[in-house]
Amino acid sequence: MDKTGSGTAISLPHFSHDKSPIATLRGKGQKVTAVVPVELIDLHPEMGSLLEEALDGLTKPQKTLPPKLFYDERGSRLFDRITELDEYYPTRTEISIMERHVGEMVARIGAGAVLVEYGSGSSLKTRVLLDHLESPAAYVPIDISREHLLASARRLAAAYPGLRVMPVCADYTSAFEVPEVEALLARPTVFFPGSTIGNFEPVEAADFLRRVARVVGPGGGLLIGVDLKKNAKVLEAAYDDAEGVTAAFNKNVLRRLNDELGADFDLDHFEHRALFNEVQGRIEMHLVSHADQRVHLNGTSIPFRKGETIHTENSYKYTLDQFAHLASATGFAVEEVWTDDQVFFSVQYLVHRSP
Ligand SMILES: C[S@@+](CC[C@H](N)C(=O)[O-])C[C@H]1O[C@@H](n2cnc3c(N)ncnc32)[C@H](O)[C@@H]1O
Repeated sequence: MDKTGSGTAISLPHFSHDKSPIATLRGKGQKVTAVVPVELIDLHPEMGSLLEEALDGLTKPQKTLPPKLFYDERGSRLFDRITELDEYYPTRTEISIMERHVGEMVARIGAGAVLVEYGSGSSLKTRVLLDHLESPAAYVPIDISREHLLASARRLAAAYPGLRVMPVCADYTSAFEVPEVEALLARPTVFFPGSTIGNFEPVEAADFLRRVARVVGPGGGLLIGVDLKKNAKVLEAAYDDAEGVTAAFNKNVLRRLNDELGADFDLDHFEHRALFNEVQGRIEMHLVSHADQRVHLNGTSIPFRKGETIHTENSYKYTLDQFAHLASATGFAVEEVWTDDQVFFSVQYLVHRSP
């Protein structure tokens, strides 16, 4: 369905593997010059909450910041660079699983599908589906990173003429409604790749899946990427690359607080740390204070001891059994699981079974 003609990789200087499946997918649609009008449905997710959430997290005994704060335009671009790193196996593994099994995946989704994607980012993996789906009716990418979402949606609309593309800027950590989409579209299939489900605490992941169950309705489907438990060294390297791109991504949250809220974090006084917490089964990302210091945010003075951390992200890793258990507790049944040869990553098709 890609009508751009070439489908060949273009040269992108900051990506290390121009011939990788990721670079090839990025290249698709890049030669289209016409600006395709795409209407953004903006639910203004961050209004009022950024300061509140930052202050709330930074005044807890274990300081925290929610991972959604990584994703302004700069954070989204840094994330795209992470997906190209040698150490970051999840993206290339998920894409290779999808490319290998896309026939079975689109057979599950069916013809005339409305595809809703949560945390769509650059919508690269979606292209694997769109290239094979029979007459997809519409694509609804949902993301908190407004400019990046709009740019990705425009590129996608240009690459797939005839496909209705309806980007929604929203925060998926709480319930939201999009009457414009609901009024126009039939029941959707939800796509949630990237193992972004791992960023939720297991209890929150269950709440999220219940919200998705309401969106797809009984009998509806969810195609989801789930990263699997594996050797801690492999996991830690994926979140602490030699080039320091993940470190820059992690520190971007402090840069945002400086730029958008006038905080005075000195980025050189914090250091990126990633570790696998075996007990919790999750990668944790932290920013470690180099020194005793004080940071100011909107009139609040926040003390840091040397070595104290801000916990910025969890990325839970599941076994196939653990994830099936989580899914079934939310009314979903796992219908099919596809993995790579090393069983590093899984793509799963779930169907909402409860009445
Ligand atoms: C780990 S990236 C995954 C991107 C892409 N789906 C992939 O598989 O490569 C997470 C994506 O979710 C978005 N995101 C993170 N938290 C969000 C939230 N609370 N609400 C909406 N989007 C969010 C980010 O902007 C980013 O595009």
